[in-house]
Amino acid sequence: MFKSVVIIGASRGLGKALSFFIKEHLPGAKQILLVSRKIDLLTANAEKLKAQFEEVKTIKADMSMSADVFDLTHAIKSFNADIVIYSAGGGPYGEFVKKDWKDHQWAIDVGLKAPMQLLHSWLSFRNPTEAGRFIIVGSRIAESSPDFSASSYAATKHGLVGLLSSIQPELLKNNNKAWLFSPGYIDTEMLPPNASARHNGAKIMSVETAAQALLRWVKKDGPWHRILN
Ligand SMILES: NC(=O)c1ccc[n+]([C@@H]2O[C@H](COP(=O)([O-])OP(=O)(O)OC[C@H]3O[C@@H](n4cnc5c(N)ncnc54)[C@H](OP(=O)(O)O)[C@@H]3O)[C@@H](O)[C@H]2O)c1
Repeated sequence: MFKSVVIIGASRGLGKALSFFIKEHLPGAKQILLVSRKIDLLTANAEKLKAQFEEVKTIKADMSMSADVFDLTHAIKSFNADIVIYSAGGGPYGEFVKKDWKDHQWAIDVGLKAPMQLLHSWLSFRNPTEAGRFIIVGSRIAESSPDFSASSYAATKHGLVGLLSSIQPELLKNNNKAWLFSPGYIDTEMLPPNASARHNGAKIMSVETAAQALLRWVKKDGPWHRILN
């Protein structure tokens, strides 16, 4: 059913793991487009994936740059992506006012503005009779509770819930769906060695567990929000 897949944030972490499990869960996938800032990492991943797909493409793009996001809207349209997974995100760690505004701006641009713009573009060109999924990665913790010392990151994750919950009624008669995947802690570079979650007994899942849970859910009819503990 799903032939072409785009993963944004595919060089490392959850996005990279997803790219390596796509074929197992979506055997009909023929094309994959990998996007992030570090083209060397993307190229190395693409090399390993090329035996699994008819076409593996990479694009170097920075989701904090408006021009790159705009160009990516066109690339996703040309690729006729049935599935887009947006896995980039982050933000400054520390007291809100002590962090530079540019760092909060980065969190908003990468964590909220870019996925909103890409989703808006994707829904605009999709044929409503064809099945498609636009998945944005949220956070079980940062979208539903205060995330102390990560205020702008939490603002973006709360914002994703607001966006995606609000548009669900508009998509009832559309076969293209916009969904939110909200995992708990995942063992990636986003959690540095000194992160409190690594020392306070919090449950931390493997990146493979998170990736496989996302891909099992993406094939189903919903629900639109998958919270993974
Ligand atoms: N790790 C956790 O505990 C956890 C928990 C809940 C939710 N999440 C969410 O899961 C998602 C993936 O996180 P992760 O743990 O896999 O993080 P990660 O290991 O740090 O990977 C982040 C990915 O996003 C890309 N990226 C970052 N900034 C970008 C930008 N400006 N433009 C384009 N690509 C960018 C990175 O690639 P380049 O550096 O090559 O650009 C990388 O591929 C994020 O939305 C995060 O908020 C993570």
